[in-house]
Amino acid sequence: MRDKDQGATMAWKTLDDMDLAGKRVLARVDINVPLEGGVVTDATRIERISPTVQDILSKGGKPILLAHFGRPKGVRVPDLSLQQLVPALEAAFGAHVVFAADCIGPGAVAAADALKEGQVLLLENTRFHAEEEQNDPEFAKKLAEVGDVFCNDAFSAAHRAHASTTGVAELLPSCAGRLMQAELSALEAALGEPERPVVAVVGGAKVSTKLELLGNLVEKVDQLVIGGGMANTFLAALGKPVGSSLCEHEMADTAREILGKAEAAGCEIILPEDIVVAREFKANAENETLRADACPEDAMILDAGPETVSRIKVALKSAKTLIWNGPLGAFEIEPFDAATVAAAKYAAKRTIEGKLTSVAGGGDTVSALNRAGAAEDFSYVSTAGGAFLEWMEGKTLPGVAALGG
Ligand code: 3PG
Ligand code: MG
Repeated sequence: MRDKDQGATMAWKTLDDMDLAGKRVLARVDINVPLEGGVVTDATRIERISPTVQDILSKGGKPILLAHFGRPKGVRVPDLSLQQLVPALEAAFGAHVVFAADCIGPGAVAAADALKEGQVLLLENTRFHAEEEQNDPEFAKKLAEVGDVFCNDAFSAAHRAHASTTGVAELLPSCAGRLMQAELSALEAALGEPERPVVAVVGGAKVSTKLELLGNLVEKVDQLVIGGGMANTFLAALGKPVGSSLCEHEMADTAREILGKAEAAGCEIILPEDIVVAREFKANAENETLRADACPEDAMILDAGPETVSRIKVALKSAKTLIWNGPLGAFEIEPFDAATVAAAKYAAKRTIEGKLTSVAGGGDTVSALNRAGAAEDFSYVSTAGGAFLEWMEGKTLPGVAALGG
């Protein structure tokens, strides 16, 4: 469970606390970006580590990027070589990027030593070594030989206790990078010591994958909006028909337990009051809007209706803080993105007006917000998927804890 350390984000050393002049700065970054035909299709994670790279350079340090890519499981998979990312990194940093074909060993050490002022070194995928995910101490030692200082800027990989996220942090003087700092302070503002009232929006397909998250949130937030496929499980648990909707009927007891826990904690649960149903799961399928207790047997619920959106807007209007994970409907097909888009746009508007601190992250959330054109207007959009969820569950992330030393 989260302990006080998780909130004490400012206790960690940052790049400002380190003397970097002439030092090899081993920077753990998350550049696990989507690639299509060798081309980066979303460079967000690369752009977001740029401040750390620039700061290391301006302090006279040598940035040495340490990262995983995909899940090669200890095997050298050419398609998962980080070398493919060199052009995208050079474009983002405006600096020459040298590539080392292994993240450990004499080649990596020599490349780090030979690095010239203003250059960046990229080390090959750490997961080409099985010892990385095993957090093998010998492997961590070899990683530590490539740097003098360790800087962890990979919040989105901090839920993994791997050699490059935790092992090496114990061996070198360590600090948090700029993106790590930004992620931690945004999350602290949203769930650590937030301005109240706090509204959480949680959507997505399944209750079963977000149980711990819902259980933690009902104790932390004032109102919890439940949307997407998982809302159907709650509707069914309350005795409402859900037709052929995505629904985990076997989770009914668990859903009722969460509702009971919320009531005890004084957290108001906002479920769909009206629903948009269709007979087919496809774009522009014929659909109708009905009361939440009126789903026909042969129909499936694909979105929340306009009354639900109005209810969410009322909650957002009085809220000071919003934390958002997951879409409210089948946002990837029109028109079933309507509730997600309308709620996201309203949250963006309140944020622009200075009335709301809005933080979003995890899996599909960023693409849902991008679809609404709202992502840029949120106070903070996390680069993290799984790590964001684990943080919302109240867990201490090993990569963050390792910086606490
Ligand atoms: C991510 O893409 O969420 C992170 O890079 C972590 O990747 P992983 O789930 O393969 O550990
Ligand atoms: Mg992942």
